[in-house]
Amino acid sequence: MTRSTQEEAQHWNARYSQEARSSFEEPRPFLLENAHHLPVRGLALDAAMGLGGNAGFLLQRGLHVVGVDLSSLGVRVAKARLPALMAVEADLRHFHIPADTFDVIINFFYLERSLFPIFARALRPGGILIFETMTVEMRSLRPDIEPLFLLEPGELRQAFPSLEILSYREGWQNRSGPHPRAVASLAAIRL
Ligand SMILES: C[S@@+](CC[C@H](N)C(=O)[O-])C[C@H]1O[C@@H](n2cnc3c(N)ncnc32)[C@H](O)[C@@H]1O
Repeated sequence: MTRSTQEEAQHWNARYSQEARSSFEEPRPFLLENAHHLPVRGLALDAAMGLGGNAGFLLQRGLHVVGVDLSSLGVRVAKARLPALMAVEADLRHFHIPADTFDVIINFFYLERSLFPIFARALRPGGILIFETMTVEMRSLRPDIEPLFLLEPGELRQAFPSLEILSYREGWQNRSGPHPRAVASLAAIRL
């Protein structure tokens, strides 16, 4: 079942008001691994940016960054940490993402399939997409997670047929650590 904007915002505001939120304040390893694909200047969109760990990294790299999230607390914390961030509190399901606009789009740990073609169109030629989120494998550990919010095997590889794939993998992160996660990870370019 999908949650309303308000229910989803309440869920994430509660999550971000807990102490254990530091993983959201760091850039994700797959973004760091693919940093060599990023342009040195331009405009980036961080979809569902959370507390801005990834957005902060893109800003440091010299990009202008629009970060969108529906958590008011997330947006407030991110903007306070990163004054240069263009932080937008909005539900991406109802947010206009213009075509041919972004040099970089990142999407970490958020899955809204209706955005796939919108992301592909929103990149400028030469633009880079970096996308990572959990797969259905995750249900072997967390059967409570709705399959709707998890990628099927191979799904991400097929999700952006107009883009050229630079890097793709599926597998476990932190398998023996405290927060193991089954993920699919993609970096792709609009030629
Ligand atoms: C798991 S967190 C990931 C945050 C960040 N991308 C990261 O990697 O740390 C998921 C984020 O998606 C946001 N979110 C969920 N549904 C959303 C929607 N419909 N529109 C915008 N943001 C949404 C939540 O508020 C939360 O900040």
